[in-house]
Amino acid sequence: MAALTAAGMTPEDHVLDIGCGALRLGHKAVPFLRPGHYWGTDASLALMRHGRLTELPDPTQLPEDHLVEDATFAFPGIPDTITLAIAFGVFTHLPHSALQAALTNLRRFPSLRAALFTTFLSDAPGPTRQPDGVVTHPDRPPYHVPESQVATAIEAAGFIATRLPTLLPRGQVLWSAT
Ligand SMILES: C[S@@+](CC[C@H](N)C(=O)[O-])C[C@H]1O[C@@H](n2cnc3c(N)ncnc32)[C@H](O)[C@@H]1O
Repeated sequence: MAALTAAGMTPEDHVLDIGCGALRLGHKAVPFLRPGHYWGTDASLALMRHGRLTELPDPTQLPEDHLVEDATFAFPGIPDTITLAIAFGVFTHLPHSALQAALTNLRRFPSLRAALFTTFLSDAPGPTRQPDGVVTHPDRPPYHVPESQVATAIEAAGFIATRLPTLLPRGQVLWSAT
């Protein structure tokens, strides 16, 4: 919520929470946003539905069809109204091609102001100990990527890349694609 607020989120925004899991963000974003303005995608529909029933203060605030099963970042059925997107702790678990696909597919949202996402960074060809101790890898989860590779992926999709100074758990780095 702090990252989205810093990106200018208001209740009027239409937010896409990519890899939203059990609604760790959604349980705060759904009550904050205007009704119907939150959409979530995840590889696991069951996880999202469980989160809707157990984590939301009022599950009726989030229509079930706003939680969309999507493991390829194709965003099926997500409306053009989306203005902000976030993927927190998602690309840290997936090969770089997932980030590239997501960024490319986000370009179809005409009103999108910013997409926020996290990565682990390292240039190392082998295991890297991140600032708080988690060990990341270039070829298996949790993944790290060189900073230049993230910036290149953002720019290749037609966005402007900004690495934000925000400190996040486990040494994840927050990026903004605008
Ligand atoms: C560490 S959790 C983060 C969940 C949520 N963003 C949060 O901050 O709590 C990673 C999430 O990514 C989802 N995920 C993994 N592979 C995915 C894929 N290919 N497409 C979409 N979601 C995926 C998992 O199901 C899981 O919910």
